[in-house]
Amino acid sequence: MAPAPVRARYTNSESVFKPDIFKGKVLFCTGGGSGICKEMTYAVMKHGANATIVGRKLDRITQAAEELSKGTGNTCIPAQADVRRPDELKEAVKKTIEKFGRIDFVICGAAGNFLAPLSGLSENAFRTVIEIDTLGTFNTFKATIPYVRQSHGSYIHVSATLHYRGLPYQAHVSSAKAGVDALSRVIAVEEGPWGVRSNVIAPGPIAATEGMSRLSVSGTGRSLESLIPLGRQGAVQDIANATVFLFSDAASLITGEALVVDGGLQHLSSSSFPYPEAVLNPESVRKMFKGKL
Ligand code: COA
Repeated sequence: MAPAPVRARYTNSESVFKPDIFKGKVLFCTGGGSGICKEMTYAVMKHGANATIVGRKLDRITQAAEELSKGTGNTCIPAQADVRRPDELKEAVKKTIEKFGRIDFVICGAAGNFLAPLSGLSENAFRTVIEIDTLGTFNTFKATIPYVRQSHGSYIHVSATLHYRGLPYQAHVSSAKAGVDALSRVIAVEEGPWGVRSNVIAPGPIAATEGMSRLSVSGTGRSLESLIPLGRQGAVQDIANATVFLFSDAASLITGEALVVDGGLQHLSSSSFPYPEAVLNPESVRKMFKGKL
């Protein structure tokens, strides 16, 4: 008898990696006040690092920093900055160096998004997202690289998969994330000789995040899970696990890559076969195709 289909489970990175692999290291994370980037910060801190989280809203990052410190036993400080403003980022880096003395890891996670067709995008709307995502990543790189070279550290850029093909209502973000991916590859090549690595994490749909609640719409007739080969949406912990791996020595020869964390969603082409029924129950498909198979 064939085994029953299973849904992928996520594994807590703490049960896979040693708890102290990042002891003495320092993380600088933009967008760390909430959602995916907060969980990425938590995971890195849980393995021994201290951190600075950067965001526009002081009350949000202050509360998040307290929670992260309390939850991990290490130190997290907030630094208010808009990634579109290089001077504010430089101040955030200064604050980090004064407090911790070094920067080993950088997560470029600050991002902006909304749903809008090209016809509904003003020049300013398009520019705003490019400035937050792409220029913000560039600014973060410029502000941190002197210290990351000293530590032979590593960058992770939070990107997406939506620009791999053409997704309606996402021209601004698709353009911005394509720029982020390109920037990461060039950082890998230019900074590799200094011992610096740069990689992208491209999350698929991640449940219970601001992005999913604001950007997904129901009523398409199919559940999202049914299109994901591994059968479930991502959890923020899935992205955190990928982060721990990419920052760890286990990834010491990996640079310039994009690690897609989406349960295989990007690889499923649309077809006339119902999915996943066609895989789980080929007999039903044979009946549907009335002897053509
Ligand atoms: N459709 C079309 N245009 C939109 C829009 C939408 N849903 N939302 C914002 N814009 C436009 C604004 O109208 C403005 O253009 P205009 O001056 O021509 O009118 C431009 O984008 C800038 O918007 P504004 O809100 O002034 O910029 P901001 O810098 O304060 O904030 C965002 C920009 C992207 C951060 C803001 O839209 C936002 O708060 N988004 C939600 C938070 C978020 O994106 N989180 C990440 C989830 S993945």
